[in-house]
Parts: sequence; C-alpha cells; structure tokens
Amino acid sequence: MNYDRTYSKTENYFGTQPETLLRNFYHRLDRSKRVLDLGVGQGRHALFLAREGFAVDAIDPSEVAIESVSALTDRENLPIRTFQCGFENFVPQTDFYGSILIFGLIQILPGESIDLLLEKAKSWTRAGSIVLVRAFSTADPSFARTRDSREWKSRGKNSFTDGQGRFRTYMEPGQLPALFGDYKVIYHREGLSPWHRHADRPPERHAEVEGVFQR
Ligand SMILES: C[S@@+](CC[C@H](N)C(=O)[O-])C[C@H]1O[C@@H](n2cnc3c(N)ncnc32)[C@H](O)[C@@H]1O
Repeated sequence: MNYDRTYSKTENYFGTQPETLLRNFYHRLDRSKRVLDLGVGQGRHALFLAREGFAVDAIDPSEVAIESVSALTDRENLPIRTFQCGFENFVPQTDFYGSILIFGLIQILPGESIDLLLEKAKSWTRAGSIVLVRAFSTADPSFARTRDSREWKSRGKNSFTDGQGRFRTYMEPGQLPALFGDYKVIYHREGLSPWHRHADRPPERHAEVEGVFQR
C-alpha cells in the first residue's frame, strides 16, 4: 500500500475511533509521561490520547499522514509533536516514553526489522513503561493468500515481499508475547477483529494478535 496515496484519497482510512485495545487500557498509562505512537497514520490513536490530556510524539514516514495529524494538532491546539520519519531513524527528544503504541506496523515490516523495533522500544522506555501492540497473525486469510501468490516472495519466517518495497510479516500463535518475553504481560489476545471496512472496499475482519506489555 502507498500510504501517501491512500491517505490523500481517503480521510480516516482506518476510521476515527481508536482500537478497543487502547480504549480498554489507556487508563493504565502514565499521564505524566509522553506517549510515542509509532506509525501514527491519520492519527486516530494519538488524537484520542491527546484529547484525553496525554502528551504524544507521533511518527510516520508518510508526508500526508504527518501533514494531516499536524493540521488537526494545530487546529485543536493539542499536545502532539509530529515527526516525519520511520522508527529506524527516529531520535527521541525526550529521556524516555511512558508508553509506546505499535498499531498496525508489525505486519508491514520485513521480519528482521521487528528485532530492531523491539530494541528501539526497549531503549526508549524504562521500567514501568507500557507497550501496546496489535499485529496480524498467521491465521489471517491474507497470510495464505500472500504465501500462495506469485506476486509475493518468501523472505524468512512468515515474511514476504512483493519486490517493490512492500512487506508482510505475520505472527505465529504465541510469538508476540514471546517477543516481549522479558516484559510483564498485562493482556494478550489472539483472535478475530471486529468486522470493518476501509473506504469503499468490502467488509473484512482480521485474525490478529494484540497485547499490553509492561517493562
Ligand atoms: C496500517 S497503518 C496504521 C496506522 C495507525 N497506527 C492506525 O492504526 O490507524 C501503518 C502505518 O505505519 C507507517 N509506517 C510504515 N513504515 C514505517 C516505519 N518504518 N516506521 C514507522 N511507521 C511506519 C505507515 O506509513 C502507516 O501510516
């Protein structure tokens, strides 16, 4: 997916509402510490938290994503700082984060980037910080479609590329909590997402894994 093009064509491609995971757990986050939203997209999670009074740093390589979140931030005078970059090149302007959101990012990364993502998340947090994560699992229908497609090539365990810069990586059962093995598991679920639709595409639901992990 070309996120600049998608976001230019559709306002709120992923909807305006935060994921239920965030709604259910934001009260556990430390309001006195900054939140980092990795891959903010059109901002549904960062905006929700900022409107609740959290200071948020929001990063995304998509210029259109950052422009739209910045415009809403200015319009509502919200405590969000935006950075147009990937997590790989991000340099925090704060000592550490109280919480990190990783919503919908893991499934579009190459497998080896997930280790880097975990390393960065660890170096940007402290004991007590909370990481909320949502990703696709190998039970998602798109996993078998991608694996069996001639357009996508395997490039490691449950990881694929179309050779044109797009990647898909899926979590096996139990893999997500194992990745956060040295965190305390506050919550972990593997199952189906609610039915939803993006723009004018048909309704769909994903097999997903999600978790709330505390250092
Ligand atoms: C599936 S969207 C999810 C957006 C948002 N988190 C949400 O749930 O509405 C994934 C987002 O990650 C961004 N992204 C892609 N590569 C990234 C990277 N290396 N670092 C940070 N964000 C990235 C994309 O531009 C896109 O906006």
